[in-house]
Amino acid sequence: MRSVIVHKEELAPGYKLFVIRSPQVAKKIQPGQFVMVRVHEKGERIPMTVADFEREAGTITMVVHEVGKTSRMLAGLEVGDEILDLLGPLGKPSEIRYYGSVVGVCRQGTAGALYSILRALKQAGNRVTVIMGAKSREYIIFEERMRGFCDEVVVATDDGSAGMKGYAVAALREYLKKNRVDYILAIGPTKMMKTVGRIAKEHGIRATASLGAIMLDGTGMCGACRVTVAGSTKFACVDGPEFDATEVDFDELQRRQEFFREEERLSFELYEEGT
Ligand SMILES: Cc1cc2nc3c(=O)[nH]c(=O)nc-3n(C[C@H](O)[C@H](O)[C@H](O)COP(=O)(O)OP(=O)(O)OC[C@H]3O[C@@H](n4cnc5c(N)ncnc54)[C@H](O)[C@@H]3O)c2cc1C
Ligand code: FES
Repeated sequence: MRSVIVHKEELAPGYKLFVIRSPQVAKKIQPGQFVMVRVHEKGERIPMTVADFEREAGTITMVVHEVGKTSRMLAGLEVGDEILDLLGPLGKPSEIRYYGSVVGVCRQGTAGALYSILRALKQAGNRVTVIMGAKSREYIIFEERMRGFCDEVVVATDDGSAGMKGYAVAALREYLKKNRVDYILAIGPTKMMKTVGRIAKEHGIRATASLGAIMLDGTGMCGACRVTVAGSTKFACVDGPEFDATEVDFDELQRRQEFFREEERLSFELYEEGT
Protein backbone atom coordinates (compact mmCIF):
# COMPACT_ATOMS: atom_id res chain seq x y z
CA MET A 1 0.00 0.00 0.00
CA ARG A 2 1.41 3.41 -0.99
CA SER A 3 2.16 6.03 1.68
CA VAL A 4 1.86 9.54 0.26
CA ILE A 5 2.57 12.88 1.97
CA VAL A 6 -0.57 15.05 2.00
CA HIS A 7 0.60 17.90 4.24
CA LYS A 8 3.96 19.30 5.35
CA GLU A 9 4.68 22.08 7.82
CA GLU A 10 7.80 23.56 9.41
CA LEU A 11 7.22 23.64 13.18
CA ALA A 12 10.62 25.05 14.16
CA PRO A 13 14.09 25.12 12.63
CA GLY A 14 14.99 21.48 11.93
CA TYR A 15 11.53 20.13 12.83
CA LYS A 16 8.98 19.18 10.16
CA LEU A 17 5.46 17.86 10.55
CA PHE A 18 4.14 15.43 7.96
CA VAL A 19 0.64 14.13 7.44
CA ILE A 20 0.87 10.91 5.45
CA ARG A 21 -1.93 8.98 3.83
CA SER A 22 -1.40 5.43 5.03
CA PRO A 23 -4.83 3.86 5.60
CA GLN A 24 -3.62 0.48 6.86
CA VAL A 25 -1.43 2.00 9.57
CA ALA A 26 -4.04 4.64 10.43
CA LYS A 27 -6.64 1.91 10.91
CA LYS A 28 -4.65 0.00 13.54
CA ILE A 29 -2.23 2.42 15.21
CA GLN A 30 -2.55 3.04 18.97
CA PRO A 31 -0.96 5.89 20.98
CA GLY A 32 2.68 5.13 21.80
CA GLN A 33 3.36 2.97 18.74
CA PHE A 34 5.80 3.76 15.96
CA VAL A 35 6.57 2.95 12.33
CA MET A 36 9.83 2.09 10.54
CA VAL A 37 10.44 4.37 7.58
CA ARG A 38 12.77 3.95 4.60
CA VAL A 39 13.18 6.77 2.11
CA HIS A 40 15.83 5.41 -0.22
CA GLU A 41 16.27 1.97 -1.85
CA LYS A 42 19.76 1.60 -0.41
CA GLY A 43 18.95 3.47 2.79
CA GLU A 44 18.39 2.32 6.37
CA ARG A 45 15.02 2.11 8.09
CA ILE A 46 14.51 4.52 10.96
CA PRO A 47 11.83 4.52 13.68
CA MET A 48 9.33 7.40 13.86
CA THR A 49 6.55 7.72 16.42
CA VAL A 50 3.06 8.32 15.13
CA ALA A 51 2.16 11.64 16.77
CA ASP A 52 -1.46 11.56 15.65
CA PHE A 53 -3.85 9.67 13.39
CA GLU A 54 -7.19 10.12 11.68
CA ARG A 55 -8.74 6.72 11.10
CA GLU A 56 -11.49 7.93 8.75
CA ALA A 57 -9.15 10.01 6.61
CA GLY A 58 -6.60 7.17 6.67
CA THR A 59 -3.78 9.52 7.70
CA ILE A 60 -1.01 9.53 10.28
CA THR A 61 1.09 12.46 11.53
CA MET A 62 4.81 12.42 12.27
CA VAL A 63 7.17 15.08 13.62
CA VAL A 64 10.63 14.67 12.12
CA HIS A 65 13.73 16.14 13.75
CA GLU A 66 16.60 16.44 11.27
CA VAL A 67 19.59 14.96 13.07
CA GLY A 68 21.43 12.98 10.39
CA LYS A 69 21.32 11.65 6.85
CA THR A 70 18.07 9.67 6.84
CA SER A 71 16.00 12.12 8.89
CA ARG A 72 17.30 14.94 6.66
CA MET A 73 16.25 12.97 3.53
CA LEU A 74 12.83 12.32 5.05
CA ALA A 75 12.44 15.99 6.00
CA GLY A 76 13.29 16.91 2.42
CA LEU A 77 10.26 15.10 0.98
CA GLU A 78 7.36 17.24 -0.21
CA VAL A 79 3.56 17.01 -0.50
CA GLY A 80 2.72 14.41 -3.15
CA ASP A 81 5.94 12.44 -2.60
CA GLU A 82 5.66 8.81 -1.69
CA ILE A 83 7.49 7.24 1.23
CA LEU A 84 9.28 4.19 -0.13
CA ASP A 85 8.55 1.94 2.88
CA LEU A 86 6.43 2.58 5.93
CA LEU A 87 6.14 -0.44 8.18
CA GLY A 88 3.86 -0.54 11.21
CA PRO A 89 2.27 -0.17 13.63
CA LEU A 90 5.17 -1.47 15.74
CA GLY A 91 5.86 -1.65 19.47
CA LYS A 92 3.46 -1.97 22.35
CA PRO A 93 0.80 0.71 22.74
CA SER A 94 0.93 2.96 25.82
CA GLU A 95 -1.02 1.72 28.81
CA ILE A 96 -4.05 3.98 28.69
CA ARG A 97 -6.11 3.85 31.88
CA TYR A 98 -7.13 5.95 34.83
CA TYR A 99 -4.13 6.84 37.05
CA GLY A 100 -5.42 10.09 38.61
CA SER A 101 -3.07 12.99 38.04
CA VAL A 102 -0.70 12.47 35.09
CA VAL A 103 2.31 14.55 34.04
CA GLY A 104 3.93 14.25 30.60
CA VAL A 105 7.48 15.55 30.19
CA CYS A 106 9.02 16.27 26.78
CA ARG A 107 11.61 18.37 25.02
CA GLN A 108 11.11 20.16 21.70
CA GLY A 109 9.98 17.71 18.96
CA THR A 110 9.21 14.86 21.36
CA ALA A 111 6.04 16.79 22.23
CA GLY A 112 4.74 15.17 19.04
CA ALA A 113 5.37 11.66 20.36
CA LEU A 114 3.69 12.52 23.67
CA TYR A 115 0.65 14.23 22.16
CA SER A 116 -1.73 11.37 21.28
CA ILE A 117 -0.78 9.46 24.44
CA LEU A 118 -1.66 12.39 26.71
CA ARG A 119 -4.87 13.01 24.79
CA ALA A 120 -5.90 9.35 25.29
CA LEU A 121 -4.99 9.60 29.01
CA LYS A 122 -7.23 12.68 29.25
CA GLN A 123 -10.06 10.77 27.55
CA ALA A 124 -9.55 8.02 30.16
CA GLY A 125 -10.48 10.55 32.86
CA ASN A 126 -7.05 11.61 34.11
CA ARG A 127 -6.05 15.15 35.06
CA VAL A 128 -3.28 15.85 32.54
CA THR A 129 -0.38 18.29 32.82
CA VAL A 130 2.36 18.60 30.24
CA ILE A 131 5.81 20.03 30.94
CA MET A 132 7.36 21.18 27.67
CA GLY A 133 11.07 21.96 27.62
CA ALA A 134 13.03 23.61 24.80
CA LYS A 135 16.18 25.58 24.23
CA SER A 136 14.15 28.71 23.41
CA ARG A 137 10.64 29.94 22.57
CA GLU A 138 10.76 29.01 18.88
CA TYR A 139 11.43 25.36 19.73
CA ILE A 140 8.26 24.93 21.80
CA ILE A 141 6.34 22.59 19.51
CA PHE A 142 2.68 21.52 19.73
CA GLU A 143 1.87 24.03 22.52
CA GLU A 144 -1.52 25.02 21.07
CA ARG A 145 -2.45 21.40 20.43
CA MET A 146 -1.56 20.51 24.03
CA ARG A 147 -3.55 23.48 25.35
CA GLY A 148 -6.55 22.04 23.47
CA PHE A 149 -7.06 19.30 26.06
CA CYS A 150 -4.45 19.50 28.86
CA ASP A 151 -5.52 20.80 32.28
CA GLU A 152 -2.17 22.55 32.64
CA VAL A 153 0.70 23.38 30.30
CA VAL A 154 4.06 24.26 31.84
CA VAL A 155 6.74 25.69 29.55
CA ALA A 156 10.44 25.75 30.43
CA THR A 157 13.18 27.15 28.20
CA ASP A 158 16.94 26.96 28.68
CA ASP A 159 17.31 30.68 27.96
CA GLY A 160 14.12 31.87 29.70
CA SER A 161 12.61 33.25 26.47
CA ALA A 162 9.29 31.52 27.32
CA GLY A 163 7.94 30.16 30.60
CA MET A 164 10.30 29.19 33.39
CA LYS A 165 14.06 29.51 32.79
CA GLY A 166 15.62 26.08 33.05
CA TYR A 167 15.18 22.46 32.00
CA ALA A 168 11.93 20.50 31.97
CA VAL A 169 13.21 18.32 34.82
CA ALA A 170 13.68 21.44 37.01
CA ALA A 171 10.08 22.41 36.17
CA LEU A 172 9.01 18.89 37.14
CA ARG A 173 10.74 19.23 40.53
CA GLU A 174 8.97 22.57 41.10
CA TYR A 175 5.63 21.08 40.04
CA LEU A 176 6.00 18.18 42.48
CA LYS A 177 6.50 20.61 45.38
CA LYS A 178 2.92 21.85 44.94
CA ASN A 179 1.01 19.04 43.26
CA ARG A 180 0.16 15.42 43.86
CA VAL A 181 1.13 13.28 40.86
CA ASP A 182 0.22 9.62 40.28
CA TYR A 183 1.95 8.92 36.99
CA ILE A 184 4.74 10.50 34.93
CA LEU A 185 5.43 9.76 31.27
CA ALA A 186 8.68 11.08 29.77
CA ILE A 187 9.71 11.16 26.11
CA GLY A 188 12.88 13.01 25.24
CA PRO A 189 16.66 12.97 25.47
CA THR A 190 18.08 10.02 27.40
CA LYS A 191 19.61 12.29 30.08
CA MET A 192 16.23 13.95 30.64
CA MET A 193 14.45 10.60 30.99
CA LYS A 194 17.16 9.32 33.36
CA THR A 195 16.59 12.33 35.61
CA VAL A 196 12.81 11.89 35.43
CA GLY A 197 13.31 8.26 36.52
CA ARG A 198 15.43 9.39 39.46
CA ILE A 199 12.90 12.05 40.52
CA ALA A 200 10.03 9.57 40.24
CA LYS A 201 11.92 7.08 42.40
CA GLU A 202 12.62 9.71 45.05
CA HIS A 203 8.91 10.57 45.20
CA GLY A 204 7.62 7.00 44.89
CA ILE A 205 5.69 7.85 41.69
CA ARG A 206 5.09 5.38 38.89
CA ALA A 207 6.92 6.59 35.77
CA THR A 208 7.43 5.46 32.18
CA ALA A 209 10.06 6.47 29.63
CA SER A 210 9.80 5.88 25.87
CA LEU A 211 13.31 4.80 24.85
CA GLY A 212 15.05 6.03 21.71
CA ALA A 213 17.11 2.86 21.30
CA ILE A 214 18.79 2.28 17.94
CA MET A 215 16.47 0.10 15.87
CA LEU A 216 17.24 -1.69 12.62
CA ASP A 217 14.37 -4.05 11.81
CA GLY A 218 11.90 -2.97 14.49
CA THR A 219 10.53 -6.49 14.79
CA GLY A 220 12.66 -8.17 17.47
CA MET A 221 14.99 -10.03 15.07
CA CYS A 222 18.29 -8.09 15.03
CA GLY A 223 18.95 -7.28 18.69
CA ALA A 224 20.08 -3.70 17.95
CA CYS A 225 17.59 -2.18 20.38
CA ARG A 226 18.63 -4.28 23.38
CA VAL A 227 18.13 -2.46 26.68
CA THR A 228 18.39 -3.49 30.32
CA VAL A 229 15.36 -2.95 32.54
CA ALA A 230 15.35 -4.11 36.17
CA GLY A 231 18.41 -6.24 35.35
CA SER A 232 16.70 -8.10 32.49
CA THR A 233 17.37 -7.84 28.78
CA LYS A 234 14.53 -6.37 26.75
CA PHE A 235 14.13 -5.36 23.11
CA ALA A 236 12.75 -1.85 22.87
CA CYS A 237 10.99 -2.51 19.55
CA VAL A 238 8.82 -5.38 20.74
CA ASP A 239 8.86 -5.16 24.56
CA GLY A 240 8.65 -1.32 24.49
CA PRO A 241 9.37 1.38 23.56
CA GLU A 242 7.92 2.35 26.97
CA PHE A 243 9.48 0.96 30.13
CA ASP A 244 9.48 1.69 33.86
CA ALA A 245 11.68 4.82 34.03
CA THR A 246 12.91 3.95 37.53
CA GLU A 247 14.32 0.60 36.31
CA VAL A 248 15.99 1.40 32.95
CA ASP A 249 19.80 1.29 32.67
CA PHE A 250 20.01 4.71 30.98
CA ASP A 251 23.84 4.79 31.00
CA GLU A 252 23.94 1.62 28.90
CA LEU A 253 21.25 3.05 26.59
CA GLN A 254 23.31 6.23 26.11
CA ARG A 255 26.45 4.21 25.28
CA ARG A 256 24.56 2.09 22.74
CA GLN A 257 22.99 5.20 21.15
CA GLU A 258 26.51 6.53 20.56
CA PHE A 259 27.82 3.25 19.06
CA PHE A 260 27.73 4.38 15.43
CA ARG A 261 28.46 8.08 15.95
CA GLU A 262 31.55 8.15 13.71
CA GLU A 263 29.82 6.23 10.86
CA GLU A 264 26.76 8.52 11.20
CA ARG A 265 28.95 11.63 11.03
CA LEU A 266 30.73 10.37 7.90
CA SER A 267 27.50 9.34 6.20
CA PHE A 268 25.97 12.76 6.93
CA GLU A 269 29.03 14.57 5.57
CA LEU A 270 28.98 12.51 2.36
CA TYR A 271 25.25 13.17 1.95
CA GLU A 272 25.75 16.92 2.45
CA GLU A 273 28.55 16.86 -0.14
CA GLY A 274 26.18 15.08 -2.54
CA THR A 275 28.25 11.88 -2.82
C1 LIG B 1 10.74 4.21 19.05
C2 LIG B 1 11.39 5.44 18.46
C3 LIG B 1 10.61 6.47 18.02
C4 LIG B 1 11.20 7.62 17.44
N1 LIG B 1 10.37 8.61 17.03
C5 LIG B 1 10.90 9.70 16.44
C6 LIG B 1 10.06 10.74 15.95
O1 LIG B 1 8.83 10.69 16.05
N2 LIG B 1 10.65 11.81 15.36
C7 LIG B 1 12.02 11.89 15.23
O2 LIG B 1 12.49 12.90 14.66
N3 LIG B 1 12.83 10.95 15.68
C8 LIG B 1 12.31 9.84 16.28
N4 LIG B 1 13.15 8.84 16.74
C9 LIG B 1 14.60 9.00 16.55
C10 LIG B 1 14.96 8.74 15.09
O3 LIG B 1 14.66 7.39 14.75
C11 LIG B 1 16.45 9.02 14.86
O4 LIG B 1 16.68 10.40 15.07
C12 LIG B 1 16.86 8.65 13.44
O5 LIG B 1 16.92 7.26 13.32
C13 LIG B 1 18.20 9.27 13.10
O6 LIG B 1 18.63 8.76 11.85
P1 LIG B 1 19.59 9.65 10.94
O7 LIG B 1 20.13 8.81 9.83
O8 LIG B 1 18.90 10.89 10.53
O9 LIG B 1 20.72 10.10 11.92
P2 LIG B 1 22.12 9.44 12.24
O10 LIG B 1 23.19 10.41 11.91
O11 LIG B 1 22.18 8.05 11.67
O12 LIG B 1 22.04 9.29 13.83
C14 LIG B 1 21.89 10.39 14.73
C15 LIG B 1 21.43 9.84 16.08
O13 LIG B 1 20.10 9.29 15.92
C16 LIG B 1 19.97 8.06 16.61
N5 LIG B 1 19.71 6.99 15.62
C17 LIG B 1 20.41 6.73 14.49
N6 LIG B 1 19.92 5.67 13.84
C18 LIG B 1 18.88 5.24 14.57
C19 LIG B 1 17.98 4.16 14.42
N7 LIG B 1 18.04 3.32 13.39
N8 LIG B 1 17.04 3.98 15.40
C20 LIG B 1 16.95 4.84 16.44
N9 LIG B 1 17.79 5.88 16.63
C21 LIG B 1 18.74 6.07 15.71
C22 LIG B 1 21.27 7.80 17.35
O14 LIG B 1 21.16 8.27 18.66
C23 LIG B 1 22.27 8.63 16.58
O15 LIG B 1 23.37 9.01 17.36
C24 LIG B 1 12.61 7.70 17.33
C25 LIG B 1 13.40 6.66 17.80
C26 LIG B 1 12.81 5.54 18.35
C27 LIG B 1 13.65 4.42 18.86
S1 FES C 1 15.22 -3.28 16.25
FE1 FES C 1 15.94 -5.27 15.87
S2 FES C 1 15.43 -6.33 17.69
FE2 FES C 1 14.58 -4.36 17.98
